Amino acid sequence: MAVVNHNLPRLLPAFEALADLGNEMTADRDFITRAETMLARTMQALDAREGALFIHSDRPAMLTSVAAFGFALFPQSAVIPLLPKNVRALNHSQPMVLAGTHERYFSANGNVPPGVFQCVAPLRVNAKLVGAVTLGRRNAEGGYDEADLATLGMLAQPIAMAVQNHVLAHTLEHRIAENLRLLAGLHSMYDHTLEAFATAIDAKDAFTRGHSLRVGRYAAAVGEAMGLDPAQVTGLRAAGYLHDVGKVNVDKHLFKKPGALERIEFQEMADHTVMGHQIVAGVEFPWPQIPEVVRSHHERADGSGYPDHLHESEMPLAVRVVALADSFDAMTSERSYRQPLSLGETLTHIVRSTPGKFDAEAVQALLVQLRRDATRKDSGAAFLEPSVPMTVAPRDLDQLAADLNFRINNARAYSA
Ligand SMILES: [Fe+2]
Repeated sequence: MAVVNHNLPRLLPAFEALADLGNEMTADRDFITRAETMLARTMQALDAREGALFIHSDRPAMLTSVAAFGFALFPQSAVIPLLPKNVRALNHSQPMVLAGTHERYFSANGNVPPGVFQCVAPLRVNAKLVGAVTLGRRNAEGGYDEADLATLGMLAQPIAMAVQNHVLAHTLEHRIAENLRLLAGLHSMYDHTLEAFATAIDAKDAFTRGHSLRVGRYAAAVGEAMGLDPAQVTGLRAAGYLHDVGKVNVDKHLFKKPGALERIEFQEMADHTVMGHQIVAGVEFPWPQIPEVVRSHHERADGSGYPDHLHESEMPLAVRVVALADSFDAMTSERSYRQPLSLGETLTHIVRSTPGKFDAEAVQALLVQLRRDATRKDSGAAFLEPSVPMTVAPRDLDQLAADLNFRINNARAYSA
C-alpha cells in the first residue's frame, strides 16, 4: 500500500483520522451530521480549507452533495450530473489531482463549477461507485502530493462504507413504506371482499341475515376498547365476518326450525365450526387468527363449549372476543325459536356468565362501548346496531360494570 512511503509525522494524523472515521461509520446520529463530521475530519487530516462529500445515484447518474465546507457560493445541495464517461472514469480511478482533467470526471451541467475542486477521491464499495470526496484549496500554499492522495485513499474507505450503509437503509425504508402501502390497499380490498363474503354466509336465512357483519363490527369495536393495535382490530373484524363460514354447509331448514334441534341436527349445526376450519385452513389470510376463530368461537372459558372443549387459557384473545361478539349479537337478534332479548336482559346474562363463559376484559370493553353510546350526544358512529334499541341508561351500565368487577374479584378470591 502507498502509505509505506509516508514518513511517521504525516502518517500519524492519517491514522488518527481513520480511527475517528471508523467510529463515525457506526455512530448513532443522523446521516447528514455524520457526513459533516467525516468530511471535516478528512479535511483536517489533509489540511484542506475547502471540501465536499457527494452521494452517487444511478438513475439518473449524478452526484449530490451531503456536506460541504469552505467553498464560496456553494449551493445548499450541489448537484453534478454525470455522463457515462464520467461514471466510467470515477469507477476506475484512485484519488487524483484534477489538473485540467475535470471534464473526464464531472459534467459542467451541474449547479457547481467542477473547476473549484483540486482533487477527487471516488468512493466505492465492492467496485460500485457510491459517492466522491472532493477537496479544494488548502490552508497553506501548495497542492496535494502523492502522500496526500494515499492518505485520502485510506480515509475514503470508511466514508464509502458509511455512504453505502446510508443508501441501503434509505432504499430499505423506501421498500418497507411501499410494501405497507400495498398491504394497506390489500387490507381494504380484503375488507370489502370479506364484507361481501359475510353477507353471503348469512343470506340463507332471514333470521341470521346480517349476523356475520354485525359480529365483525362488534368484535372490532370491543378490540378497540381493549386497546388493541389497528392491525389486530382489523384482524378481529375479518375474523368476525368469517367466523360462521362453515354454515354454508349446514342444511338451511335447520335455521328456520321453530323448536329445539334434535341431537343429530344439533351436531350438524355444531359441525359448522370444524367444516369452516377446513375451508379457511388452507387460505393464506393477512390475519393468522382467522382459522382459530372459525374453529373455536363456540368454545367457552369453563370448557363447556365445542368442538374441542378448550378452557380459557387455551383460547386465543381473538377467539374470546369473537365468541362474546357472536353471543351478544345472537341474544339481541330474533331467532326462529324466540324473540330477541332486550339489551338489559342480554347484558345481565352476559355479566352473570363471566368469567365462567366469557372473557372478563372483553365484557368490560363491551360495556365501555355501550356506555359511550348511552351518553353520546353527537350523531357519530354508534357501537350498537340500529336494529337493537338502546334501552339501558348509563347508571345501569355502571351497575353492570360494578357487578362484573365483583364477580371477577370473587372468582380470583375463590381460586386463590
Ligand atoms: Fe357459529
